[in-house]
Amino acid sequence: MSFSIKKNITWVGKIDWELRKFHGEEYSTHRGSSYNSYLVKDKKTAIIDTVWTPFAEEFVRNLKEMDALKSIDFVIANHGEPDHSGALPELMREIPDKPIYCTANAVKSLKAQYHQDWNFKPVKTGEKLSLGDKELIFIEAPMLHWPDSMFCYLTGDDTLFSNDAFGQHYASELMFNDLADQAELYQECLKYYANILTPFSRLVDRKIKEVVGFNLPVDMICTSHGVIWRKDPLQIVNKYLEWADDYQENQITVIYDTMWDSTRKMAEAIADGIRQTDDKVAVKLFNCARSDKNDIISEVFKSRAILAGSPTINKGILSALAGILEEMRGLAFRNKKAAAFGSYGWSGESVKMITEKLREGGFEIVHDGLREMWNPDKQGRENCLNFGKIFASLLK
Ligand code: FEO
Repeated sequence: MSFSIKKNITWVGKIDWELRKFHGEEYSTHRGSSYNSYLVKDKKTAIIDTVWTPFAEEFVRNLKEMDALKSIDFVIANHGEPDHSGALPELMREIPDKPIYCTANAVKSLKAQYHQDWNFKPVKTGEKLSLGDKELIFIEAPMLHWPDSMFCYLTGDDTLFSNDAFGQHYASELMFNDLADQAELYQECLKYYANILTPFSRLVDRKIKEVVGFNLPVDMICTSHGVIWRKDPLQIVNKYLEWADDYQENQITVIYDTMWDSTRKMAEAIADGIRQTDDKVAVKLFNCARSDKNDIISEVFKSRAILAGSPTINKGILSALAGILEEMRGLAFRNKKAAAFGSYGWSGESVKMITEKLREGGFEIVHDGLREMWNPDKQGRENCLNFGKIFASLLK
């Protein structure tokens, strides 16, 4: 499969409709994904990025069938992660001497992953590669989201190839942003940002401002996953600036796990208390053992505060909650408030433990938390309701 994006830019990637997990089992992809690769033709021809390893053979076969393989003069590797570099070995078997333009960090990551001594041409921000009438300008983007990441910009066509940035795990035959379902598209963009880019928000902000400072016109943004931004392409850049600025909506997310429903009852009574105090705030509850963790992370990303609950088990907390707390620690959310709750039978360590993990994750702890013994009775539910009211009032 291939399709034309502009007169001299052709998409030659792979739409992966079946993908349901990405990064091993780490990231859910309910709507599949795509690995976008672009063939840019001028007097010389460059190929920008490849596809994930399982599709390497298909990728190269497709290029052969298009009669494009022999015309490739330059390979551009914007990023070393296998979803974009995975077909390099297959491609380079066909064109072994062609130069690969990438960052110095990508030379290291590609060599360490594929153990090949390809003809690497390390580039820095501002360096250019002439394709004839048009040029590719390279822009390093370290930690967006790997040390080796970079963008490149095609003059004449005013097209930014941004690799992972501005992308989404979203399979669609309608490969342009104006054709896609906008709600689905933005849901996937936000999920991608929340789950992958949150820790790098300060760098996102800095890099966008740096690129904007180059005053390059942008007619199109070709990402490496999902749709191509051709209608008002800067909309996603502006959205990234908003998201990078410690984004939040008027939402509180309650995440819990439960064994015999006591902690669930607590969560529901706490949510009632919040609503009774603030009828404008969106309160969302997730049993984290039964919900998709990446979707929960998207909700945390949108929240100004969260509550996390688990009963005490074996002097600790339930593993599903422990997992999501660890996920949140790594993502290093900022400017969000939190507190813990949980039921217990005898020792009752969970609330303290959750509180500590939330604190480690960068959340501002606004309350010591609430414990309820065994199955909350009327008084216990009242305590939870009051706790919800207090929590909501602490956010005002
Ligand atoms: Fe889509 Fe960081 O690879």
